[in-house]
Amino acid sequence: MSELRVGIAGVGVMGADHAERVVRKTSGARLVAVSDADQTRAEALAARLAGGSPYDNVRVVEDPLDLIAADDIDAVILASPGFAHAEQLFACLDHGKPVLCEKPLTMDAASALRVVEAEHKLGRQLIQVGFMRRFDPEYDALKQLLDSGELGRTLLLHNVHRNKTVPPSFRSEMIVRDSMVHEVDVARWLFGEEITRITVRTPKPTSLVGDGVLDPQLAVFELASGAMADVEVFVNFQVGYEVRCEAVAERGSATIGLGSGVFTRTGGQWGGAMPADFRIRFEQAYDLEVQRWVDATVRGEIDGPSAWDGYAAAAVCEAGIESLSSGRPVDVALADRSKILG
Ligand SMILES: NC(=O)c1ccc[n+]([C@@H]2O[C@H](COP(=O)([O-])OP(=O)(O)OC[C@H]3O[C@@H](n4cnc5c(N)ncnc54)[C@H](O)[C@@H]3O)[C@@H](O)[C@H]2O)c1
Repeated sequence: MSELRVGIAGVGVMGADHAERVVRKTSGARLVAVSDADQTRAEALAARLAGGSPYDNVRVVEDPLDLIAADDIDAVILASPGFAHAEQLFACLDHGKPVLCEKPLTMDAASALRVVEAEHKLGRQLIQVGFMRRFDPEYDALKQLLDSGELGRTLLLHNVHRNKTVPPSFRSEMIVRDSMVHEVDVARWLFGEEITRITVRTPKPTSLVGDGVLDPQLAVFELASGAMADVEVFVNFQVGYEVRCEAVAERGSATIGLGSGVFTRTGGQWGGAMPADFRIRFEQAYDLEVQRWVDATVRGEIDGPSAWDGYAAAAVCEAGIESLSSGRPVDVALADRSKILG
């Protein structure tokens, strides 16, 4: 396979961003077609990309399932909303198409597990999940430092995840399933073990969003070894996009996400710029994620979070949403990995 022919299903914020990335920044791949429930959106994107040769021929496919089935598509990026992922993932598996699926893998743990089982039956890994923080150079450096053992064993993680604002349709459960899910993956990845229990508490909510949205939220994850991670998620922080992680180990701590851009000290003040959203903060991570996915797909592999990682995160979030309503710790019901994957 000399050039990976890619199709993208769902070209809203993330899908359009990935389309530009495949066209302008990714080597060894070519964007062949796009599809969206809103056909005019797909057409507008295709027209926008038509500006530069050889991308004057990105096809618009009306039905995303037809895009997945198309003979001239080798691999698929799914950036449709989470509720559409299960059906489209099964279609990718049916057609043997490698797929980079934006998080969440699916909307609940049961359907995510069915995806894991269906992929396992095929005998090869076709699904990679878009937990892009694993590709962020800062997170990667933190992981390498912790794995080196230089600081001793890692005991605790403190995480902060703040967005400037989110659309009014963003509900309390989405703060767990769509935002906190990134910290769920980060904790599982940095510690290299499963989360067994989650507690989600809700402090006094911001008055700047109404309608009963519980924002911010505070969560504690308990891991199999007894290590813990806490996370504040505040999606209507008003200021900018901020993601921090401090790892506390036996002989020291390490923090990432302290600042971006140039810090200035002037007029009795000090400070720097904050990115407005995740596309700016994690641009390099998305670029690396897609490039490494393309390279791995050509080799017939995945190179990043697997379907199991997507399932495990879904199981933690499901327990987290239960804890959100009770305020109590909830055990994570995770299938036995060795029984499912052998
Ligand atoms: N990794 C990250 O950092 C990150 C960030 C934001 C969003 N996401 C994920 O990316 C996905 C898309 O999010 P978004 O912010 O781009 O949303 P969006 O609403 O901007 O875009 C979704 C697009 O999908 C289209 N769509 C709806 N149903 C569809 C279907 N059945 N098939 C194909 N297209 C369909 C919509 O018309 C829309 O254009 C979600 O799964 C979201 O959780 C990931």
